[in-house]
Amino acid sequence: MKRALITGITGQDGSYLADFLLAKGYEVFGMVRRASTENFERIEHIRSRIHLHQADLLDQLSVIELLKESKPQEVYNLAAQSFVPTSWTQPTLTGEFTALGVTKMLEAIKLVDPAIRFYQASSSEMFGKVQETPQNENTPFYPRSPYGVAKVYGHFISINYRESYNLFCVSGILFNHESPRRGKEFVTRKITDGVARIKLGKANEVRLGNLDAQRDWGFAGDYVRAMWLMLQQHQPEDYVIATGQSHSVQEFVELAFKHVGLDWRNYVIVDPSLFRPAEVNHLRGDASKAAQKLGWKPEIAFEELVVKMVEADLERVRHT
Ligand code: NAP
Ligand code: GDD
Repeated sequence: MKRALITGITGQDGSYLADFLLAKGYEVFGMVRRASTENFERIEHIRSRIHLHQADLLDQLSVIELLKESKPQEVYNLAAQSFVPTSWTQPTLTGEFTALGVTKMLEAIKLVDPAIRFYQASSSEMFGKVQETPQNENTPFYPRSPYGVAKVYGHFISINYRESYNLFCVSGILFNHESPRRGKEFVTRKITDGVARIKLGKANEVRLGNLDAQRDWGFAGDYVRAMWLMLQQHQPEDYVIATGQSHSVQEFVELAFKHVGLDWRNYVIVDPSLFRPAEVNHLRGDASKAAQKLGWKPEIAFEELVVKMVEADLERVRHT
């Protein structure tokens, strides 16, 4: 039985990846940080089938001990401060988690078992002020937020440990991916949660920022499959994972409200306080390398994703 360790298992991607690896027959270990109240909502359904260990990416010794205890063959490093606006209000903490945290895990792997295969959660946010469209593995980075800058560090330190110590490190440069398990502060989930509450009479409006921003949105369940595929290859390489199509925030809004028979213009308020100090205006990925080498392609299209998220929120709000 293969053993995998997931950092960030309580997050959106960690929970889908745990589902995926369990279905593949893996023994799954998850790193969780101590909190005064447990935050295991997304993994409640598999709680009895996974092993949770307390450690923190900020604490080197705890990461080393975690690897000694769990003895994984594969480590998926998904833990990060992942919300872009918070990276402006907590820039150094974001750097500690999202950038230096990667080095702590790589150092632990080098020390405990250099044969471990390592996946780093890189991000399309690294392309920021895009230098070409669509973006591929060779597109230069131009991050536009402290989060994006931290992810560039995590990306290059993974490449550096691959080249310096011959570790099997891969980075998945993943474009935005969403699901009913997405955190409610991210724009897609904020919209679908708002639509559900408005439709069911529990809210009158939803306040949003820049409706013109465009993203290449896919489904998280499809993207965790790509993470696993990257670690099964002979050579460690980096891959862009994306749908190849982009849509504006406004298009997402229109579709979500239309699905419940409402006109979005009656409910959406544009709030200038939600605009960012520096915006990433337009992202669109070219995942042809992943298609060719991994045989990966997304299975859920944009419209289906919007409907899936609205339906899940309607169901949840109805029962709360
Ligand atoms: P998420 O839902 O925000 O989950 C983040 C996870 O990281 C949570 O489990 C969180 O634990 C954990 N974490 C944060 N700081 C930690 C620390 N110091 N020690 C231990 N755990 C810590 O994020 P996601 O959407 O699943 O994304 C997963 C990864 O992919 C992140 O690295 C993100 O930056 C990256 N990424 C995401 C996307 C996307 O569109 N979703 C695209 C590209 C890259 P708590 O539950 O305790 O807070
Ligand atoms: N969050 C949020 N809230 N975003 C809004 C809002 C709002 O009320 N109104 C408009 N937006 C716009 C943002 O300005 C941004 O251009 C876009 O919606 C997407 O914002 P988020 O959903 O917060 O995602 P993100 O693109 O900043 O970051 C996500 O994707 C990255 C990959 O490109 C996160 O998951 C990152 O962790 C990930 O790396």
